[in-house]
Amino acid sequence: MQKQSQWKTSTGFILASAGSAIGLGAMWKFPYMAGIYGGGAFLFMFLLFTLIVGLPLLIMEFAIGKMGRTYTTKIYEKLTNKKWLNIIGWNGNLAVFILFGFYSVIGGWIVIYLAHVFMQILGFEQGPLGHIQFEQVIGNPWITIVGQGVFILLTMIIVMFGVESGLEKASKFMMPLLFIFLIIIVAKSLSLDGAMSGLKFLLQPRTEDISMDGVLFALGQSFFTLSLGTTGMITYASYASKEMTIKTSALSIVLMNILVSVLAGLAIFPAIGAFGYEPTEGPGLLFKVLPQVFDEMAFGTGFYFIFLILFLFAALTSSISLLELNVSNFTKNDNSKRTKVAFIASILVFIISIPATLSFSSLSSIQFAAGTIFDNMDFLVSNILMPLGALGTTLVTGYLLDKQALRTYFGPDRFKLFAPWYYLVKFVLPVVIIVVFIVQLI
Ligand code: TRP
Repeated sequence: MQKQSQWKTSTGFILASAGSAIGLGAMWKFPYMAGIYGGGAFLFMFLLFTLIVGLPLLIMEFAIGKMGRTYTTKIYEKLTNKKWLNIIGWNGNLAVFILFGFYSVIGGWIVIYLAHVFMQILGFEQGPLGHIQFEQVIGNPWITIVGQGVFILLTMIIVMFGVESGLEKASKFMMPLLFIFLIIIVAKSLSLDGAMSGLKFLLQPRTEDISMDGVLFALGQSFFTLSLGTTGMITYASYASKEMTIKTSALSIVLMNILVSVLAGLAIFPAIGAFGYEPTEGPGLLFKVLPQVFDEMAFGTGFYFIFLILFLFAALTSSISLLELNVSNFTKNDNSKRTKVAFIASILVFIISIPATLSFSSLSSIQFAAGTIFDNMDFLVSNILMPLGALGTTLVTGYLLDKQALRTYFGPDRFKLFAPWYYLVKFVLPVVIIVVFIVQLI
């Protein structure tokens, strides 16, 4: 029996796709990338790409999902009658598979930090939160493997229960709570010594800090944080009810994502100087700085514990979408196979995540192309597979789909946005993606 899963309500759809988008990308990756690629310059390019490239692409993915209403290794054939175009769906499937592999490494760190803080609350560990030394946490291969195993396991259990689970309800209060917590951290951070120079670093774009690499990674960051180019958002839109509004959903997701990214930056950069860190700390940035900020707060340990739970929740609503894409493609929307497919996919992800985790410890000396194994997995996905997938979908949308049909799915158009969107997708974005792509290969 074939039964397509569905969100119960259209807010359910927005919450789920916002959940997919808002995650480690905004909170963990954005600050560390901004730290490496020039702070304000990176923020500026990221905003530009997110609004001009990301938003139209997100609208496009939603429109395609709504039109095709099936899993993404079939949807291209269904819409164009060209079977070979399903390769775009397979590209996306491969991308999220690898992505989940390295995403779970960071998810695992959150789990380990949670465990430490919990021990502290129970009184088994003493001292300030700053005693949780990042290098020690990630340097222990066994513990990190267990941590990411737990993260993958949690994702798997949720996906096994299907999309209409309690998550919709949970994200209604978890997400606002996360905003509130971020604002509290920002306030504390801004009160620390030397906060101003950190703030300036993040908010002031300096032209001398703009580099070609920065441009590439800013585009990659827009793709990553909006879950674009892997057909993940197409999958979610294919589950949505007919009434869902494409433009307002996409716009609200983009704005929320920008807000969380900026808040994460504002939470971290003002605090860097006070604790003697550099912006270029890399993937460990958030994990090194935040415990110290919480140490400065009354009830810091308890607050940090709640924050980590919210952070874990945000990461899980994203990893769920990663696994969900594999599940929908391999079950072909036949829900009776869901448990089995979710199980097998999770085991495979766990296997490929091990070398990713070990690139922070025993395999750290293996360096090639973009850096460690972890860096290369990230680069392959964010800078190659995602842009390629997005390129394919823009070409399909611009040159193979019926313009009138697209207009219908675009929805009521009070501000006459269809034409600019359509020409952007048809002529401008493919060129932007190709140029950026070629430049990075050189
Ligand atoms: N956007 C998510 C984040 O920022 C990551 C993510 C979830 C994703 N699903 C995706 C990225 C699908 C690409 C494709 O944490």
